Amino acid sequence: MTSKTVTIVGQGYVGLPLAQAAARAGWRVHGLDVTESLVEALNDGTSHVDDLSDADIQEMLGLGYRATTDPAVVADSDVVVICVPTPLGDGGSPDLGAVKASSRTVGDNLTEGTTVILESTTYPGTTDGIVKPILEMASGLTAGDDFQLAYSPERVDPGRTDYGIKNTPKLMGGMDDASTQGAVAFYGSFIDHPVPMDGMREAETAKLLENTFRHVNIALVNEMAKFCKELNIDIWEVIRGAATKPFGFMKFTPGPGVGGHCIPIDPNYLSYEVRNQLGYPFRFVELAQEINNSMPRYVADRVGELLNEHRKPVNGSEVLLLGVTYKANIADQRESPAMPVAEALRDRGAVIRFHDPMVENWNLESGSVTREASLEEAVKAADVVVVLQAHETYDLEKLAADAKVMLDTRGAAPKPAVRL
Ligand SMILES: NC(=O)c1ccc[n+]([C@@H]2O[C@H](COP(=O)([O-])OP(=O)(O)OC[C@H]3O[C@@H](n4cnc5c(N)ncnc54)[C@H](O)[C@@H]3O)[C@@H](O)[C@H]2O)c1
Repeated sequence: MTSKTVTIVGQGYVGLPLAQAAARAGWRVHGLDVTESLVEALNDGTSHVDDLSDADIQEMLGLGYRATTDPAVVADSDVVVICVPTPLGDGGSPDLGAVKASSRTVGDNLTEGTTVILESTTYPGTTDGIVKPILEMASGLTAGDDFQLAYSPERVDPGRTDYGIKNTPKLMGGMDDASTQGAVAFYGSFIDHPVPMDGMREAETAKLLENTFRHVNIALVNEMAKFCKELNIDIWEVIRGAATKPFGFMKFTPGPGVGGHCIPIDPNYLSYEVRNQLGYPFRFVELAQEINNSMPRYVADRVGELLNEHRKPVNGSEVLLLGVTYKANIADQRESPAMPVAEALRDRGAVIRFHDPMVENWNLESGSVTREASLEEAVKAADVVVVLQAHETYDLEKLAADAKVMLDTRGAAPKPAVRL
């Protein structure tokens, strides 16, 4: 057990589980955030992320964890980890505003001997070219001599139970050996497999390779789903067959589009930097984007076809969307493809209804929708039911039998549901 202190900057989906792991390993943990209401809720023992319950936060508080908006906590910390958002800005370019602002805050309060680690997903060169100069300028200290600096990407998969912080290998690349070892010493106190890397840029790029790999492979099966439909080939059976190969193949499945804060966003960071530094496109990313972004409209087209087979126009038909979060069994709606699916159908005059066990009120750009009170009645009443997320609480066999028509975009419902 250690009695050292860590400040974790950003108490969201990444920072909060990290704070929990560190607190359980005996670290004194400060959870630094700029959102006052969030800090108050955490100190009152209330969680806002799917993977942590209120009881988890209360346990953390019992272990000495405190959330705060006061950056002075950085000064008495042995380690500072930055886990702030890295969204896309105007025109789809990286928005490093939170990384820059938090680096400045850390730099203003930094003391000698501290190890600073960036966890936010970002393009190669950010830790060295952006975070380092801000820390040095704000603190008057020199990276490498006075403090250590490393990059260690987060690999959390919200809602996943077989792999968590402890048993997922974690990459860490420092600006020098001492920095890498500083990161290994911190994470190694609660992670089974720290993976030291030769450099920060390699660690940054490895994270983007992982997410681009998913993006591209999802696009591959999405494109195949479209032409298999036209060729009258069952893509789900194709994938089931291919996935029996024990080597050289990894299973990905089609769907209504990619969501969340990683797959639709992170590969852009890489393509932006390739274009910015080298002047040419990262074609795989751009193609994957084009295909995955086309899926919500494809789902709307398929709904139109199914209604047509039943002699109904989209205009005026009641469409019930099941599961509007970006993945199954979690409440996170960020970048969910359900939104463009609903907007495309509304544009064509459909009456949108929805049900999701984890979302009560769903705010669409064209106005909010309230969850159907009775799933059973809503399924029976709708002209078409569209499964966007197969949450495990859904009895899809029964729902498919009850629905007039069901379009299943996840390949999870049995016949008579029609698959994407
Ligand atoms: N959520 C995931 O599954 C996941 C997985 C891997 C990597 N990531 C990456 O981790 C980073 C954080 O993502 P997240 O999902 O935890 O974001 P989040 O939005 O859930 O949380 C970020 C927190 O940072 C706070 N914040 C913003 N600016 C700040 C500042 N200047 N100082 C202090 N706090 C500040 C916000 O108030 C918020 O509470 C991103 O780069 C993301 O791409 C996320």
